[in-house]
Amino acid sequence: MNNGMLNTAVRAAQIAGKIIIRNFEQGKLDVDEKQKDDLVTNIDRECEHAIRDFILGKYPEHRFLGEEGGEQQSPAAEKDEGSAGADAGNSPRKGHGSRSAGDCLWIVDPIDGTTNFVRGIPHVAVSIAMQINGRTELGVIYDPIRDEMFQALRGQGCEFNSRRMRVSGATSLDGTVIATAFPHRRRELVPGYTRTLMRVFNECADIRRAGTASLDLAYVAAGRLDGYFELALSPWDLAAGELMVREAGGMVTDLEGGNDYFTSGNIVCGNPRIVRQIVSLAREAAKQ
Ligand code: IPD
Ligand code: CA
Ligand code: CA
Repeated sequence: MNNGMLNTAVRAAQIAGKIIIRNFEQGKLDVDEKQKDDLVTNIDRECEHAIRDFILGKYPEHRFLGEEGGEQQSPAAEKDEGSAGADAGNSPRKGHGSRSAGDCLWIVDPIDGTTNFVRGIPHVAVSIAMQINGRTELGVIYDPIRDEMFQALRGQGCEFNSRRMRVSGATSLDGTVIATAFPHRRRELVPGYTRTLMRVFNECADIRRAGTASLDLAYVAAGRLDGYFELALSPWDLAAGELMVREAGGMVTDLEGGNDYFTSGNIVCGNPRIVRQIVSLAREAAKQ
């Protein structure tokens, strides 16, 4: 991992950010529904192509996982793997990157907050993470409308528009503002989720549901929000932000207080005291 890769992620996010700005409120979107209440536009796809071409142009041996295109690799790398001949049987499964660099995977949400984007609500982000051998090494979250660039590098902290980020120092939920989101695509989770939400709401000052998971995470890292919890996220929603919260001194767990959030998509974050309290309320809610 090096700063060159972080710069690549920042640059890729800016390229997509320009496309988002150019098309924001232009009213010429092609909107499709991937599944019920899950939107994608031609601009999501255009952004993802631009990010992928830029990153794989610099690192052709890396793998790329984008929300809209799934897992891909540059044509050059695929050709390389195809010509590996007898060795191919011993290599990692097709699509896994360069042996020398380790298994490098970029995880990208080209527009996080597509529903906001479609409706002209100015709260969207580009989220880019890079993992080596399954461990997130860098994360960039870019809000092109406010021109706010949040970035984190494993072991080296995180910054926002060149200022160091730190999670809030709240000692209890009293007086805090907590972000969340309704599991609108997983309605079967609503009863349990609502029980947790009401318990958290009873203890905190207020709740926010802004519609862009990566910015919820970035705002927790920046101390704008004291905590955040959500169910059933995808890897591209949380990969960059998870590292960011940790590098800002925060804690990230699943709803049971474990580390299974990448698989379950259920996440709680904030400073350790806030996370423990939300997890304890979620456990109480689960018993009911
Ligand atoms: C969604 C947003 C939203 C969250 C959803 C995500 P998308 O991402 O981050 O805040 O509640 O769970 O799927 O679909 O706009 O990229
Ligand atoms: Ca998303
Ligand atoms: Ca998206």
